[in-house]
Amino acid sequence: MAGAGTTDRTADRTTDTTAGRLGGKVALVTGGSRGIGRAIAERLGREGAIVAVAYARDDAAAAGVVERIGANGGRAFAIRAELGSHGDAAALWAAFDRHRPDGAVDIIVNNAAIARSSDLATLTEEEFDQVFAVNVRAPFFLVREALGRLRDGGRIINVSSGVTRIAHPEIIAYSSTKGALDTFTLNLAKQLGPRGITVNSVAPGIIDTDVNAEWLRTDPEAAAWAVSISALGRVGRPEDVADVVAFVASDDARWVTGRVIDVTGGSML
Ligand SMILES: NC(=O)c1ccc[n+]([C@@H]2O[C@H](COP(=O)([O-])OP(=O)(O)OC[C@H]3O[C@@H](n4cnc5c(N)ncnc54)[C@H](OP(=O)(O)O)[C@@H]3O)[C@@H](O)[C@H]2O)c1
Repeated sequence: MAGAGTTDRTADRTTDTTAGRLGGKVALVTGGSRGIGRAIAERLGREGAIVAVAYARDDAAAAGVVERIGANGGRAFAIRAELGSHGDAAALWAAFDRHRPDGAVDIIVNNAAIARSSDLATLTEEEFDQVFAVNVRAPFFLVREALGRLRDGGRIINVSSGVTRIAHPEIIAYSSTKGALDTFTLNLAKQLGPRGITVNSVAPGIIDTDVNAEWLRTDPEAAAWAVSISALGRVGRPEDVADVVAFVASDDARWVTGRVIDVTGGSML
């Protein structure tokens, strides 16, 4: 079973909306309560999708996302479901079904991750297992459990990272999980293509989220470095990623599958 158990937090709000590019679609966003996932959930909600906001611990943050989607005329519900232990995927979908009894889903965004790790010399086996359990095993089994509920023409979007292209040995295990996720994307795209389901990775560079707050918001030299590596001369924002995810989720991206889409603002070109 999932580590912290799985608890529904918030009931559906507002009435059905079918307006917008994603009107009538149902989306699941893991890690949808903060950072990049929050921006994705809110953007998909603005596009008309009914959004399941999955998260691990921060009830208030998830409730805030649901509130904001509702305030913008959308519809959302929160699912507390910590990923990273056996049975996590089944527990998440069981919670999803309590809000959506028909169980159907159109868009799965695998965004939740442990966004850090140690270098090879100091990494423990436990740390290795945990980062792979959350970043690779959870998306793998979330999708497998969803194969019967994912509607034809659907979307799977895996949030990867620029670190599969740009070497950072100090976070080698984390980077390796994203490489695995991209390989998952490639194979899944071939398997699900006949059903009109596209599968893509979206790979951000440095984004100003909580995970980077400690250095990005307090160390001016490090912040200047982060700006300098982007061809576009600034640090990324969660919305920079969410807007690309919204495109990939839309019908406009129907002919794009099995790809890793770089959203690093041209970092280290
Ligand atoms: N930020 C960057 O610079 C950057 C760059 C490249 C790629 N990425 C990727 O972008 C994605 C989002 O990163 P972020 O920076 O937005 O992260 P973040 O701000 O730390 O947010 C993490 C989100 O994931 C949830 N989460 C964390 N561990 C979880 C677990 N074990 N089970 C379920 N949910 C869990 C958190 O929920 P709670 O708050 O409830 O714990 C939160 O909603 C990740 O895949 C990351 O690898 C980020």
